Amino acid sequence: MSIETIKWIKGSARIIDQTLLPNKFEYIYCRDVETMWRAIKRLSVRGAPAIGVAAAFGVLLGIQKFKGQDKPKFLKLFHKTCDYLATSRPTAVNLFNMLNAMREVVNQNPQANVATLKKLLFKEAMAIFKADQEVCRRMGDHGAKLIKNGMRCMTVCNAGALATVDYGTALGVFYSARKKARKFSVYSLETRPLLQGARLTCWELCRQKIDTTLICDNMAASLMAKKKVDIIFTGADRIASNGDTANKIGTYMLAVLAKHHGIPFYIVAPRSTFDLAIKSGKQIPIEERKSEEVTHFAGVATAPKGVKVYNPAFDVTPANLITGIVTEYGVIRPPYMKNIYETLSNR
Ligand code: MRU
Repeated sequence: MSIETIKWIKGSARIIDQTLLPNKFEYIYCRDVETMWRAIKRLSVRGAPAIGVAAAFGVLLGIQKFKGQDKPKFLKLFHKTCDYLATSRPTAVNLFNMLNAMREVVNQNPQANVATLKKLLFKEAMAIFKADQEVCRRMGDHGAKLIKNGMRCMTVCNAGALATVDYGTALGVFYSARKKARKFSVYSLETRPLLQGARLTCWELCRQKIDTTLICDNMAASLMAKKKVDIIFTGADRIASNGDTANKIGTYMLAVLAKHHGIPFYIVAPRSTFDLAIKSGKQIPIEERKSEEVTHFAGVATAPKGVKVYNPAFDVTPANLITGIVTEYGVIRPPYMKNIYETLSNR
C-alpha cells in the first residue's frame, strides 16, 4: 500500500491531513504534543488504530523536549502528557490501550533512568506502529476468505489505510481479497455528517482500482431490498466483552437492515480495539461533536441558524446483530462472551 497515514520522521510525527481529502493531499508535521492533540480532535488523523498510534507518538512528542536526569520531574511530565492525550477523543479504546501500553513501559522499569526510559518509550511506540501494520494484514487475510467471486460488499465510514498505519481493517479485507484475485465490488456509504465514506473510503478504493459505488446513507435499505448486497464489513472503535460494538454513527442502522434482509454483517477489528474491562456496549462513552458539523457543509449553512442539533459520532451495534468479528487471530463467532474471552484474554 502506498498510503502512509502516520509515520515518525526525525523527531516529528508526520500525518496525512484527512480533513482536506480528497481535494488536497497534505501532510501535517506534529512537532509537539499540542499539535498532535488538535490533529486527533479535529480528525486530521482518525480511525481507531491510527488514533492509537498517534497517541503513542504524541507521548514521544511530549517527552522529547525534556532535558536532564531529574526522574520525578520526567515522570510528572510523562503522566501529564498521557492524561492530556487521553482527553482528545473518548470512544476509540485504542487511544487508551496504547497510552496504557506506554505507561506499562514506565511501570515495568522502576529502576531505569530518564535516558533509558526515553529509549524504551521510543521502542514501544515503534513496536505499536509495526504491530498495526502486521495485524491489519493478518485480519485482511482472515476476512478475505469470506469474499467469494461476484460478491457485492458494503461498508460505512473509513476503516482503511487512512484509519490505520497503512492497510486498514474492513478495507484491508478488500485489499487482501484483491491480492487473491477475487472479483467483487463495494458499496461505500457516504457517512454523514463528515463524509468519511465519500471522501476517504472512495478515495482509497478508487486509487486501488477496486470497483466502488458511492451511495448516500439513506440508500442502503433500498439496495438491500433489491438483493444487491451480499455481505457487509465495518470497522470498530470499541468492542465490549459481550461483542457489542461501537463504530461510526450509522453502523447500527446497517446492522439492523442486514438482519432484516438476511445479509451477513462482519466487524473487522484488532485486539487493540477490544475493551475487556467492560461487560456491554452500555458502558461505551459516545462522543458528541459540535453542531456545525451537521448544520454546515464546507463552511456553508445547510440548516437554519439556531436549530437544535444532535450529533453523536458513534453508535453501538448489539452483538446479536453481528455475524462475526474478524480479528488477527481469526473470525470470532457467537456466543461472543465465551469466544471473545477464549480468543483474546491471554493476548
Ligand atoms: O470519527 P472517526 O472518523 O474517527 O470514526 C472512525 C470509525 O468509526 C472507524 O470505522 C473505526 O475507527 C474503525 S477504523 C479501522
